[in-house]
Formats: sequence, structure tokens, C-alpha cells
Amino acid sequence: MVSSKQCDFSPLVCLSDFEREARNILPRNALNYYKSGADEEHTLADNVAAFRRLRLIPRVLRDVEGVSLQGHAILGQIVSSPICVAPTAMQKMAHGQGELATARACAKKGTLMALSTLTTVALETIAEEVPTLHRWLQLYIYKDLEATLDVVRRAEKNGFSVVAVTVDTPFLGKRREDERHKFTLPSHLALANFADQKNDREMYKVEGGGGKEGGGGGGRSGLSKYVDVIQNHSLTWKHIAWLRSHTSMKIVLKGIHSGEDARLAVEAGVDAIWVSNHGGRQLDTVPATIEMLPDIVRAVRSAVAKKKGGAGSSGVEVFVDGGVRTGTDVLKALALGANAVFIGRPVLWGLACGGEEGVSRVLEILNEELRLSMALSGCRTLSDVTKDLVRHQSSFSNL
Ligand code: FNR
Ligand code: LAC
Repeated sequence: MVSSKQCDFSPLVCLSDFEREARNILPRNALNYYKSGADEEHTLADNVAAFRRLRLIPRVLRDVEGVSLQGHAILGQIVSSPICVAPTAMQKMAHGQGELATARACAKKGTLMALSTLTTVALETIAEEVPTLHRWLQLYIYKDLEATLDVVRRAEKNGFSVVAVTVDTPFLGKRREDERHKFTLPSHLALANFADQKNDREMYKVEGGGGKEGGGGGGRSGLSKYVDVIQNHSLTWKHIAWLRSHTSMKIVLKGIHSGEDARLAVEAGVDAIWVSNHGGRQLDTVPATIEMLPDIVRAVRSAVAKKKGGAGSSGVEVFVDGGVRTGTDVLKALALGANAVFIGRPVLWGLACGGEEGVSRVLEILNEELRLSMALSGCRTLSDVTKDLVRHQSSFSNL
């Protein structure tokens, strides 16, 4: 069981420090689940490495007194920063207060939080306890469409403004450590959005170890069997139209990898596209998200212009996540056209190190780093952050 203790943050000055500390604190079951990528973890590593292959070309003598992130809007909502929190499942494995601690930290900082469907705190509790939180719901569309709509309606009723449909997970990717140790949610925790419903109990039924952490029996992880049982493996673009007809929330598609799918998403009338490879946890060897971003931004702009019957600015926003660990990473993503940048694992490391305070510190550090990177590259506001700030390292090879 994880404690709700807090560690000393003073020596932790960057997100990697939090990661190192969290790796010492977390129980094996939780750490393996949080850190793992799929298969050989090529994409997991490349998400981080690809940022290093991009170089910043700063501008000087541009008056960077009072660098500000203020006034930034994401899907019409004014937030304190373009850095947001991605949905990560089952946060009570990291800290006793789980998603509630993350939500409190986000609300305090004015940061947008996307809540996973698979939380260990119910979405109603988050809304009730943290009413000022800018909150989105991440949605998995289940075989049981009525149960899916039930979650959507509850989110709508509880002030969630956006539904981010995850489209890269018809099945769970193969995370080797989770398979070796037959990962499942510890038996004292539950999937809180499904209390009293069969979806919650399926987890225990299918894992074969009677709910015992790391329990016996051959085969795969409990979570991956659970996803097999509940997840809709037959999703198509028709389901996006179906969702549109049932909710007034804005719709984002999370897990778009290709320009062609981005184009189809614009045609389908979504409000935003979230470039993501699920933190390298689904299909291994897909490109790093930061390397896919420019193609997708181009595809979206051209699809929007075509739809409107003329050139124009993109009415469909583009977000990105995966491997964002420093302020310069955020700056590069913004320069390449992202309107918001989401972080997944770093929040879990903050949570493990000290609940709400840990997550707050992680958000503060990343925002401070972003402001400093902006100042050092001659950008006083986010509108000064443009594509010519970034060059790929390969462009320096023809000296
Ligand atoms: C995730 N992610 C995820 N995505 C989603 O749509 N629903 C979910 O429930 C989860 N759960 C989840 C758990 C854990 C432990 C991780 C690490 C990730 C993916 C997440 O939203 C995001 O895409 C990645 O985490 C981004 O990559 P980084 O920041 O972790 O490198
Ligand atoms: C994961 C799922 C739950 O990545 O999204 O573990």
C-alpha cells in the first residue's frame, strides 16, 4: 500500500528528479504499470529522445521583461497555461487521495485536467470537492453503449466541458512487466466511476487471482483482460457521429497518429485533435508524437480550409502529449502548432512524491521552465512562439 507521506521537495528541481524519487517510493505493481510502454518500448523512449533532436534558434534584443502565459484559451476556456494534465488511470496507487489530489493541485494552479474513465475517485466526487477545476472527461467507448452514455451524461451534469475520446485502445498494448507480474488494481481500490456496475467487477473476475495483487494463474495482466471484456473493438467513425448526437460537450479525439485520420476527424466535425501515442503504451515503433505534430497540423489546417471553402485559420485545435519533460519541450510543441501540451507520467511521479503538493510542484517547475525558455528565446507572449524557433538537428549536417 502506498503511504500518503510527503517527501522533501527542495532537492527536486526538475521533472526527472521527481521521476527518480517516485521510482524509489512506489510499490512494484504500481511503478511497473505507470512506467511501462508497449513491447520493446521504442516509442516510449523516442517520445523523449525526439525532443532532443529538435534544436531551438533563439532571437535576441526583443524585450522579454514580464514573460506571460496569461489569456491562453483552450477550446474557449481561459487557462493559466498551455500545459495541461493528461488522463492517467488509477491514481490511488500513487497516493492515498489519488485523482482528488491531482484535481486540487490543478485547480490551485488554474490548470486543465482530463480525468480518465478509469479513475479510483468518482467523477462526481471530483466535481463536488473541486468545483473550480477546469475539467474534461476522457472516454473509452465500451461494448455497452448505454453504460458509456451513462458516464457521458454524468460528466455533463457535473460540469465537464469536453469529452476526449481515446481512439488508440481497441485492445490494451502489451506491457511486458504488467504481463510478467499479472498487473491488476490492488483489491482495496476500485474503479470508482463504475461502483455497483458490472464493469468494476469484471476486473476481478477476469484477472483470475481473486483480486490479489500480483496473483497467480497464467496469461496476461488483469487490466488487459478487463479491457478485452469491456472495450468496444468495433469502433468506427460512426461512433463519433453517434456520440455527437448524444452530447453537447465539445469532442476531442485522443490518439490520432496520421494526417489522413486528422483529415477524417475534421470531416467528422470534432472540435480538436489530440496527437498522442498513449505515452508509447499501445502500438510500439510508431513515431514520436512531436515528430508527427507538424504533419497533423498541416492536415488539419488544409481540411478546415477545404471544409470552409477557402483558406483560413484552423477552427480545429491540435494538442499533443508524450515525452514532455522540460520547458523547452513545451516550447517546441507550441512552436510546431500545438495549442495545448499534456503531461501524463510526470503527474504520477509528483503524486507519488507528495500528493497535491507534489503535483503542484511538478506543474510549477514545468511552467517556470517554459517561461524561462520563452524569455531566453525572445518570446514575451505565446503569440511570439512561432515555428522558426525550431530546427531539426539533421538540418545542421551539411556544413
Ligand atoms: C495513460 N494514458 C491514458 N490515456 C487515456 O486516454 N486513458 C487512460 O486511462 C490512460 N491511462 C494511462 C495510465 C498511465 C499509467 C499512463 C502512463 C498513461 C495515456 C496518457 O493520457 C498520455 O497519453 C501519456 O501518458 C502521455 O505521455 P507521457 O507524458 O506519460 O510521456
Ligand atoms: C493505460 C490505459 C488504461 O494506458 O489507458 O493503462
